[in-house]
Amino acid sequence: MSRIERLLERMTLAEKLGQLTMTASSYAVTGPVIAGDSTDSIRNGTIGNLLNMVGAEHVHEMQRIAVEQSRLGIPLLIGLDILHGHRMLFPIPLAEAATFDPGTWWLSAREAAREGAADGLAMTFAPMLDVSRDPRWGRTAEGPGEDPWLAQAIAVAKVRGFQGTEHASEQSRADLDVRQSGTGLASPESLAACAKHFCAYGPVTAGREYASVDVSERALREVHLPAFAAAVRAGVAAIMPAFTDLAGVPMTAHIRLLRDYLRGELGFDGVLISDYNAIGELIKHGVAADLADAATLALKAGIDIDMMADAYRRGLPVALERGRVSIEEIDIAVRRVLRLKEQLGLFDAPYGRGARRETSETLAQRRKLARSIAQRSIVLLQNDGGVLPLSASIRRISLLGPLADAASEMRGCWAAACEAEGHVSVLGALRNALPRTQIRHAAGVSIDGEDQSGIESAVELCEGAEAILLCLGEAATMSGEAASRAHLDLPGRQRALAEAVLNRAGGLRIPVAVILFSGRPLTIPWLAGKANALLAAWFLGNEAGNAIADVVTGRVSPSGRTPITWPRALGQVPIFFGQRSGGRPFNPEDHYTSKYIDELNEPLYPFGHGLTYGRFSLSNLRVSASVLGEDGVIDVQVDVKNEGARRAQETVFLFTHDKLASVTRPLLELKGFTKAALEPGASQTVTLRLSGAQLRFPGLDLEPVFEAGELEILVGPCADRARLLGTTIMLRG
Ligand code: BGC
Repeated sequence: MSRIERLLERMTLAEKLGQLTMTASSYAVTGPVIAGDSTDSIRNGTIGNLLNMVGAEHVHEMQRIAVEQSRLGIPLLIGLDILHGHRMLFPIPLAEAATFDPGTWWLSAREAAREGAADGLAMTFAPMLDVSRDPRWGRTAEGPGEDPWLAQAIAVAKVRGFQGTEHASEQSRADLDVRQSGTGLASPESLAACAKHFCAYGPVTAGREYASVDVSERALREVHLPAFAAAVRAGVAAIMPAFTDLAGVPMTAHIRLLRDYLRGELGFDGVLISDYNAIGELIKHGVAADLADAATLALKAGIDIDMMADAYRRGLPVALERGRVSIEEIDIAVRRVLRLKEQLGLFDAPYGRGARRETSETLAQRRKLARSIAQRSIVLLQNDGGVLPLSASIRRISLLGPLADAASEMRGCWAAACEAEGHVSVLGALRNALPRTQIRHAAGVSIDGEDQSGIESAVELCEGAEAILLCLGEAATMSGEAASRAHLDLPGRQRALAEAVLNRAGGLRIPVAVILFSGRPLTIPWLAGKANALLAAWFLGNEAGNAIADVVTGRVSPSGRTPITWPRALGQVPIFFGQRSGGRPFNPEDHYTSKYIDELNEPLYPFGHGLTYGRFSLSNLRVSASVLGEDGVIDVQVDVKNEGARRAQETVFLFTHDKLASVTRPLLELKGFTKAALEPGASQTVTLRLSGAQLRFPGLDLEPVFEAGELEILVGPCADRARLLGTTIMLRG
């Protein structure tokens, strides 16, 4: 008999329910309900899992109680939200998506796992895979952006990175000289990943956090499920359902999607963990009368661990008595939890994670990695007249705005274990980078206050400057969970500051570069129209200041591409490149076509947009075969040339468009991307691979089909159709 079966035989009902319970310690607060002291419950075996602990010493102390003092000695599973680094923060996920580099996604997850595991943890509630096409939703910051194909690529890289399985992409690892280990889940350097929030949390009604969701089955299959399917294929250990209801069925109780789709169709046999208090919230949703009812619904849907509702411990004994659930159903969940603990090596080495302190060399390498990822996450949205980079001999800069000297604001939305010190602001970093330049600074206004009295003195600092850098945007807490915004402009009085500075600088003919901090696209056409340069600096983590200084001074050429469309106006939301034609696509000659009467259809910046300090041209698009079958593969090639004066890296996207099919297809579908780093004057042929399997889509009956016919292949620097090279191939069924 296996260890798990032997244990199950000996377990009381209370001990079983303990294994199905996860309780928060108070080291980090991530939800509205706070649990008290759990030590006694761990000792008597009625709490088997914890979240929100930090520090190997504390983790081992709790683990010792479970392993050495509880009757059965079952180790605890301890998890934390490690979304974009643990102590060393990397860029927020949306920003890191902008690197379009699977090697980087893998590597930062790997490093975060090593760091979290060195703190004694065994699980992260990541990756967050919710596709978002609505920047009002604050959690857009935590996710992969707007595209399902991109979300899948990120899902695979992150799951493998956290769980210590190898990843094909070696690109960035070679450059970065970070020691690597791909040693699997049982390694003391790995964490179990928990993909979340399953599914379709992104399209919450009106972008409002926790609101209802109602999307079609097709949208689920085309947009919201693929990343989770990719995570399952990559071996993800756990999945967390979303707080939301989908067309009236709360995800925490969604039998069809959790049991039939995840467990049945995808064969997912890992652990399902409810979100924070989500089982209890089934009562507020209005589908459960009491905790016993709520616990029954969740267990029937296949949820194994109850996070923070205490519904399983309090409700399942009642449900058992009422004959609503059986002990066999409880045992199935307990088996899954114990199996995960076994896979993590917790039975054999309960103190393995956190046994060794990380060396200062490891930490230094990790800091270097954080800086490199931050550099590559920055998106240069605009650079009129080549204002950036600043000239190496610049003598006087004015650095203005409330985010110029705000190191802690740049860390981002999941900064739980990051220590406050050890990172520099833009001001600090620029002073280090340009020791001979006079840098004058004024905040002018606060991030979201109403006081405008500092604007005048800030504007005074324009006088005599050779360039002005204006640091504007959101506070870190304005994105992430429970941070939906109904206005996507700059908060507070920042617009007044920006307009005053831009006017004065314009009069004095001093160029202004805006460094914009946000966890989402902002609606800033007025700013884009006036600033000479605009950098999306998102929230870049511990090395934000240095990375921004690297790009602004030209030490590094920017290479990030926006993973999400930037709207011109809130009324355009949801806006994304994968829209369908409709029967009346916009035609300026015809009034009765799809448009706004008061705004353009086009975004401010399309998906994939991002400038570099080079200037690239693409030519000579060709394909290795003009016919492609469902099992076939073709190579798509294009020549890339750097016609600019500086070394830079171009990103090339591959899109397709199926013009005639049994159901309407999006005007552009992303199928791949690649990069070329080129010296001035150099060119290179890049190859993108397209397989027939990638061209299946949910047909009329929603089953995957591959349909014969013409397929447009479109290749270029972003999802702006006017900038894409195109050719056509035939699909043969
Ligand atoms: C969030 C999850 C998170 C959990 C635990 C919840 O409020 O929705 O994303 O993993 O808290 O911190």
